[in-house]
Amino acid sequence: MVPTVCAEPYNPDEDDDDDSELKIVHPKTDQQRCRLQEACKDILLFKTLEKEQFSEVLDAMFEVLVKPNEHIIDQGDDGDNFYVIERGVYDIQVEKDGVSRCVGKYDNKGSFGELALMYNTPRAATIIAVQPGALWALDRETFHRLIVKNNAKKRKMYEAFIECVPLLKSLELSERMKMVDVLGAKTFKDGEQIIKQGDAADCFYIVESGVVKIMIKRKAKAGRPRSEDEDEDEEVEVEVSRCVRGQYFGELALVTNKPRAASVYAVGGTKCLVIDVQAFERLLGPCKEIMKRNIALYHEQLVALFGSSEDLKR
Ligand code: CMP
Ligand code: CMP
Repeated sequence: MVPTVCAEPYNPDEDDDDDSELKIVHPKTDQQRCRLQEACKDILLFKTLEKEQFSEVLDAMFEVLVKPNEHIIDQGDDGDNFYVIERGVYDIQVEKDGVSRCVGKYDNKGSFGELALMYNTPRAATIIAVQPGALWALDRETFHRLIVKNNAKKRKMYEAFIECVPLLKSLELSERMKMVDVLGAKTFKDGEQIIKQGDAADCFYIVESGVVKIMIKRKAKAGRPRSEDEDEDEEVEVEVSRCVRGQYFGELALVTNKPRAASVYAVGGTKCLVIDVQAFERLLGPCKEIMKRNIALYHEQLVALFGSSEDLKR
């Protein structure tokens, strides 16, 4: 379908001078709009947008179908679009000192191509479709008008908080700000499950407000005599710790490449900042030593509670 471009009237009294810019609209069928909304519902970069801005983003996106081995992005190129994945698997390759290495993959969800557009730099990686896939693309101009502008607000909002997160002390200020640029914020109701033990992991969390509790499944009989009517395999969840403002969780599965080692629940209304695995790998390298030291503490904690740390080895 042909995109329409409509010019909004310029109103000098309005603070928001970007309203005078051109809005791009790619018409979509109801079915396409449904699929697009589903693909975008967990995209972190869209999480802090106002409803109206989000709706403009959806209007401007257009569908791109890709074939196996197709290069969607080539490292070193100029940035044209930002992409959200509807389906398909995509390899991420980074070339350094003449050697190309696969540093990860996107598996039927997520987004890529934001860096060149945010920082006006050449593409930092090559993205290749492994199988037939479908993407939604957002053009550079709309990305600038809505996402980059929103990032200026995000930096103001989160700068002071991010400065106080102990884990991030070893990062440069510019690296902390890059984290703010790509993070999303999610709110959870009392008792809501944030992480499920045993699930595959794709993001990392920092508590911005409220409290979360970490629960680990144990065999009901572990560590105590079993009553007659108790099922031998019955499992119960036991609380092992809590995290409050400024503390993080969900790093373990990303560092060890294993399923989630515990479940995490909101205690009261809770807000968390969320960072996806690709940004975690790219930006939090300098903090990994601190995380690893804390992982040793998890073992000690489990040994103290249950007499062993078997759960972390699964
Ligand atoms: P961009 O540089 O615009 O184009 C390539 C994209 O690959 C990049 O934005 C990120 O969205 C994505 N990407 C995923 N992992 C990495 C990585 N380790 N380094 C650089 N880019 C990455
Ligand atoms: P992850 O395994 O990704 O998801 C569950 C999270 O709970 C885990 O990362 C840790 O961040 C957190 N956690 C806190 N205490 C423990 C513990 N003793 N054992 C395992 N995970 C813990």
